[in-house]
Amino acid sequence: MKVLVTGGAGYIGSHMLRALQSQNHEAVCFDNLSTGHRDLVDCDSFIEGDLADKSLLSDIFANNNFDAVIHFAGSSQVGESIKKPDKYYRNNITNTQNLLDAMIQSNVKKIVFSSTAAIFGNPQYIPINEDHSCNPINPYGKSKLMIEHMLADYDKAYDLKFVALRYFNAAGADSSGLIGERHIPETHLIPLVLQAASGRKKEITIFGNDYNTNDGTCVRDYIHVSDLCDAHILSLDWLEKGGSSKRYNLGNGNGFSVNDVIRIAEKITGNSIAVIKSSRRPGDPEILVADSKLIKQDLGWKPKYENLDGIIADAWNWEILDNKRCL
Ligand code: UFG
Repeated sequence: MKVLVTGGAGYIGSHMLRALQSQNHEAVCFDNLSTGHRDLVDCDSFIEGDLADKSLLSDIFANNNFDAVIHFAGSSQVGESIKKPDKYYRNNITNTQNLLDAMIQSNVKKIVFSSTAAIFGNPQYIPINEDHSCNPINPYGKSKLMIEHMLADYDKAYDLKFVALRYFNAAGADSSGLIGERHIPETHLIPLVLQAASGRKKEITIFGNDYNTNDGTCVRDYIHVSDLCDAHILSLDWLEKGGSSKRYNLGNGNGFSVNDVIRIAEKITGNSIAVIKSSRRPGDPEILVADSKLIKQDLGWKPKYENLDGIIADAWNWEILDNKRCL
């Protein structure tokens, strides 16, 4: 298939480009490089552009025979979304609508969309399956949920088929060490913990230790980026075979607290990690753990990294190599 990957210069997108090529798909990367990195992009062709630019989108779809789109581009930080909701509603909702409209205009009717566990809000039960109610507690989650609604309506009206993958916490790096997670500024727990282990940062700040969890810190379900990419490939295959639209929760089904992550990172790196305790970060749900039975059952998805040690080991490999590159 010839696949347009929006946000292909980002963390998950850059891994996706490689995964597509390894499966002999043709990957075209579209990215405005606002948060992505050109040096992480390895694909058949790269287009620098913004989803706000409707005429550029029309041209790109007119000049390429895309079979499908994988849509990562967007803003993705919970904390920032509370301070700048306008950015999230524009970059995520408005720009996704531009993309969908360009697709419909050119008769491209298959899309895999990167949704999020943040659409659920504070869970009513754990693990969270696809039947769980959606009550997002931050603009980021609300914007992604709105896009899921938009996709369903475009399916009804224009026969657009989609798979929405609700990622829990993406983590780890390609086992080659050539690409990995590089956000500037970095806000995610695992890379920050590893930067504290490598000496790039002095310490890690723990946001809240008074949650109703075993050790008082927030619990998350970390899923290896390569396992996420496998789920996208299976979703593309599903759509290619004429499958109907689907929504799947994607995680490992195991919860790890912030303290667990720090403890495992100390074990993997062999370094001690200095910690500062701070207040809760607004918009953080207490606990998010996925029930991913449905995608396993429907598409045969099987995560290769079921424990956090392997995920952190690959992230550490990347941290060491990227730290050297950045010096
Ligand atoms: N945390 C800290 N200190 C830090 C950074 C994070 O204690 O310096 C804590 C957070 O408070 C949270 C946990 O570590 O409890 C994980 O935080 P991340 O920022 O790594 O990830 P989030 O859970 O906030 O968000 C991520 C993605 C979202 C997605 C969400 C779904 O960034 O896009 O997972 O679970 F919606």
